[in-house]
Amino acid sequence: MNRIPQGFIDDLLNRLDIVEVIDHRVKLRKTGKNYSACCPFHDEKTPSFSVSPDKQFYYCFGCGASGNAVGFLMEYERQGFVDAVESLAKTAGVEVPKEQTKENREQHFRQKNLFDTLEKASTYYQQQLKDNPKRDQAIRYLQNRGLSGHIAKQFGMGYAPPGWDNLLIKYGLTEEDIALLVDSGLVIRRDDNNKLYDRFRHRIVFPIRDTRGRAIGFGGRVLDDSKPKYLNSPETDVFHKGRELYGLYEARQANRNLEQLLVVEGYMDVIALAQYGISNAVATLGTACGEDHLRLAFRYVQEVVFCFDGDNAGRKAAKRALLNSLPAMEDGRQIKFLFLAEGQDPDSLVRQIGDERFLQQVQAGIPLEDFLFDVAAEGIDIHTMDGRARFSKIAAPLLNQIPKGVYRELMFTNLAKRTGLSSSAIMELTAAKAELSDLKEEPVVEPTPSEAPPSEYHYDPSANAAPHVMDTADEQPTPDYEAEYGSLFQGEIAPPTSAPEARRRSSVTLNPITAATLLLLDNPQVLQKLSADSILEQQDTKDPALLRLFNLLDYLKKRPTANFSTLLGFWGGAYGIDSQQELAKMLATHELTSDVSLSSHQPHRVLRHAFDKIRKQFLITERDRELTELKAKGLSNLSDDEKNRFRELIKQ
Ligand code: UTP
Ligand code: MN
Repeated sequence: MNRIPQGFIDDLLNRLDIVEVIDHRVKLRKTGKNYSACCPFHDEKTPSFSVSPDKQFYYCFGCGASGNAVGFLMEYERQGFVDAVESLAKTAGVEVPKEQTKENREQHFRQKNLFDTLEKASTYYQQQLKDNPKRDQAIRYLQNRGLSGHIAKQFGMGYAPPGWDNLLIKYGLTEEDIALLVDSGLVIRRDDNNKLYDRFRHRIVFPIRDTRGRAIGFGGRVLDDSKPKYLNSPETDVFHKGRELYGLYEARQANRNLEQLLVVEGYMDVIALAQYGISNAVATLGTACGEDHLRLAFRYVQEVVFCFDGDNAGRKAAKRALLNSLPAMEDGRQIKFLFLAEGQDPDSLVRQIGDERFLQQVQAGIPLEDFLFDVAAEGIDIHTMDGRARFSKIAAPLLNQIPKGVYRELMFTNLAKRTGLSSSAIMELTAAKAELSDLKEEPVVEPTPSEAPPSEYHYDPSANAAPHVMDTADEQPTPDYEAEYGSLFQGEIAPPTSAPEARRRSSVTLNPITAATLLLLDNPQVLQKLSADSILEQQDTKDPALLRLFNLLDYLKKRPTANFSTLLGFWGGAYGIDSQQELAKMLATHELTSDVSLSSHQPHRVLRHAFDKIRKQFLITERDRELTELKAKGLSNLSDDEKNRFRELIKQ
C-alpha cells in the first residue's frame, strides 16, 4: 500500500504523542480525559474537534474528520503520506527506512497516469470547443441554453467532436496509452470483439472534478433530443459515482466560507445556478443521494438543501434522500427539502424568476423534521388511535437512524407529543427496520453502448503491437447496497451477568455487529482472550457492516499487537478514507455517549456473546432467503424434496 514499511509507521506512532503533534499546531484544551479545540478542518464557533490521548486519534463531531497523527499532518499541512511520515520521523528523531516495493511504485504511478490521461482529455475537449471545425453546433447549443462563455470556462466545459477515434488517434499511441484510456473510461473496448472506440462523441462534456480539482470523469450531453441524453464515465480506480458531488470543487473555489450546499439533480442545474450567482449547488451523478454523498457534503458545510422536482419521481427521490440523510443528522447539522413545481428544474426556474426569488424559495424549504413526520403520516388518519399507532410504527425506526444527540432526543420528544405515546413505548418500536414502503431502488443504468461502431470500423494502434489483454471497461451500474443495508442483524445483546446494572443494559437494542466491532476497536487485545473456535468465522455476505467486521478480525489476527491508532492508519490505506472515518466515528461517538457500557469487566464474554448472536442471525437470514426462494417458485410447483425442506424451514 505505502512505500514505507508498516512496522516502521507503527513504531513511529507509538513513539509520538498525538496530543503534542496537534497542540503544536492547534491549541488544545483538556476536557475530561480528552482534549478539544475548534476544528481546523471546518468553520465552527464551538469546539467539536476532539483528541484522545488513550487511543491516539482525533475525531471531529462536526465534520467527521478523523485519523491518527500521520493523518492529521496530511490534512492539516496538506502533505502527502510520505512527507507527513518524514516530518513526524524528524520530530521523533528517527530515520525513515527507504524501502520501496515494486508494487507500490507501480500502483502510485498508475493512478498518477490515470489522472494525467483524464486531464489531457479534459484539455482536449475544451480546446475542441474553441477550434474544432464542427464546433458551431455545440456553441449554438450552449448559447441557446443561455450559458455564458465565462461560466462554461469556469466549469471546464468542452466538446467531444463526432467520430469514433478522436481521442484514440491523439492519445492512443502505444498499448500502454490505450490501456490508460480504457481504464479511465474514455475509450470503450468491446467485450465481443475487442474493438476500441471513444466513449464521448458529438457531445458537450462536463468534467467531473474531485475536491482537489482534478478531472476524474466526465458527463456528456447530446446536442438534440436523441437518447441517451447523458452519458457518464463508468466507475474507475479514480471515479466512484457514489462518492462524488458534481460542482463541489467549483463551489469551494467560489466561496471562501461555504455554509450551505444545494443538492440538485443535473449538471445543467449546477451550472445555471452558478451563472446566476448561486454558486453553492452540487449534483449527484444520476444516482440517489447516498450516505457517502452526505458525508462528503457535511465535511464542508453544516446545512444541505435538497431540490427536487414536484412530481411523483421527485417526491420518491426526496424520500430516498430522507432515509439516507438520517444517519448524517449529527447535532448542529441541518437539512431542508425544496420541491419545485412540476415540469420545473432549478435551471429553468432560476432563469424564469431570477436569483433573489430562487433563494427565497430555498430559504422556505421544508426542514427535515417536518418532512419526515409528513412522510410517515402519508395516507394515515392520525386523528384515530389506530392511525397514531401506525404512524409511530413508521416514524420510530426512522428516528432511530439519527445519531445520538440532542437532535435525536428532540425528535423522539416530538413524536411522543404527536402520538401521545410514552417514550418507553416508542423506544420499543424503534427496533423495526426503517423503511418507507414505496422505495424500491431503481438504479440508474448507464446505457451499454448499443450504438456500436460501424462494422468496417477498426482502430489499430500499431500494426506490430502485441495484443493487449486487460479488463474491459466496467459498464455495470453501481451495485445497490441500499436494499441490503440496515438492520438485518438487529438484535438484543443479552446481559453478560445478571447484575442490576447489566439488566438495565439489556433494554438497549444494539446491533451485535456494531457491538462486536466497537468492542474490538475499543480494545483490540480482547480477541486474544477468546479461544480460536469461538471467534466468528468468515461468511459469505454482502452486508457492509459484517464485511467490515470480518476485515477487522482478519487484521487483528495478523497483528495481535495493534492498537487503535495503527489500525486507523492501516484502515485508511486498505479500505479508503471514508471507511477509516466511519471507524473513528464509531469509536468516538461511542466514547462520549456510551449508554451500553462495553467497558464491561469481561469484554471477551460480551464479544463472544455478540459473535454467537451474529451466527444465529446469519442462519435466520439464510433461512429467510431460502424460504423466499421456495415461495417464489410457487408452493404447488415444488418437488417433494423441496416441499419437505419447506416444512422443515418453517418449523425452525
Ligand atoms: P435531467 O434529465 O433532469 O438533466 O437529469 P438536466 O440536467 O435537467 O438536463 P438538461 O437540462 O435536459 O440538459 C438529471 C441528471 O441525471 C443524469 C445526469 O447526471 C443529469 O444531469 N442523467 C440524466 C443521466 O446520467 N443520463 C440520462 O440519460 C439522463
Ligand atoms: Mn434541465
